[in-house]
Amino acid sequence: MLIKRPRGWELPESAATPERVWLSRRSLMLGGAGLIGAAALPRLARAQAGDPTVDLYPAARNDGFVLDRPVTEESIAANYNNFYEFGSSKRVAAAAQALPTRPWTVVVDGMVEQERTLAIDDLIRAMTLEERLYRLRCVETWAMAVPWTGFPLADLVAMARPLSSARYVRFETFTNPDVASGQRQSWYPWPYVEGVTIEEATNELAFLVTGIYGKPLANQFGAPLRLALPWKYGFKSIKSIVRVTFTDERPVSFWEELAPQEYGFWANVNPDVPHRRWSQAREKMLGTDEEFPTQLFNGYGEWVAGLYAGLEDEPLYM
Ligand code: MTE
Repeated sequence: MLIKRPRGWELPESAATPERVWLSRRSLMLGGAGLIGAAALPRLARAQAGDPTVDLYPAARNDGFVLDRPVTEESIAANYNNFYEFGSSKRVAAAAQALPTRPWTVVVDGMVEQERTLAIDDLIRAMTLEERLYRLRCVETWAMAVPWTGFPLADLVAMARPLSSARYVRFETFTNPDVASGQRQSWYPWPYVEGVTIEEATNELAFLVTGIYGKPLANQFGAPLRLALPWKYGFKSIKSIVRVTFTDERPVSFWEELAPQEYGFWANVNPDVPHRRWSQAREKMLGTDEEFPTQLFNGYGEWVAGLYAGLEDEPLYM
């Protein structure tokens, strides 16, 4: 007998609970407590307060990045996450608290002058943290506007001293199926992997994130280190990074490996190129009824459009 198990990425859009429905259900069921269980809340606050870098927050805001819409409420952003290591639901915040984020090391390897393993707190303290207001646009058409804290990815590239032969930067997330139940689902190609070109990595917008809302990152956002690439669909913004590899081979990302006909390497936001399941023409801000027309490069073209000159034959928008 053929048993067909529906997988998260195969769900038709119509099968997903509309966000408005679950948001109102959430406020009915949980009042102000949000979707993190009541017991997890003090645990989360304790974890953030006990973070060894907590003294660095809030960092000075870089006013070069402004929003055209209000910042998403923290309790909303913190309770609607994509973090497949902890399951395919958006309500992974409580489960994600089980991930130990100290000790944590980041391996920098591949085509670099010298490979090394960095303790996360040494890395964070070696960088100058700043706050940036960025929008994040998920390919599922929801969006948020948040104050990330972190440092330019370009600063890590400079620290790594890549060889001139390196053309791409590949990122890898932790592997820990003992705490991350999603990683026990063997049909996914764990670990989560993402990649960008060196030119993209050194673009001013590419940002390595260590905090959000003026505090160290909570686990569900990808503590202790995640990427923010606001001109690309959110799946490129890989969470909980343990390895950064400089290479001359284009990395095959988690989603590309799973469904290459739906998810590509470039994944630049474009309202005119629909995904198989989602028109990309409009986007809905998390926690509000507000919808906005999607903008090319998510509105960040002034920073990044030049990166793609001469690459018109590439599938730049999937
Ligand atoms: N990184 C890892 N390791 N695992 C994931 O499942 N999901 C991606 C991205 N980074 C994901 C990940 C997707 S699809 C999106 S839209 C963003 O994280 C969501 O980030 P947020 O939960 O902080 O809003």
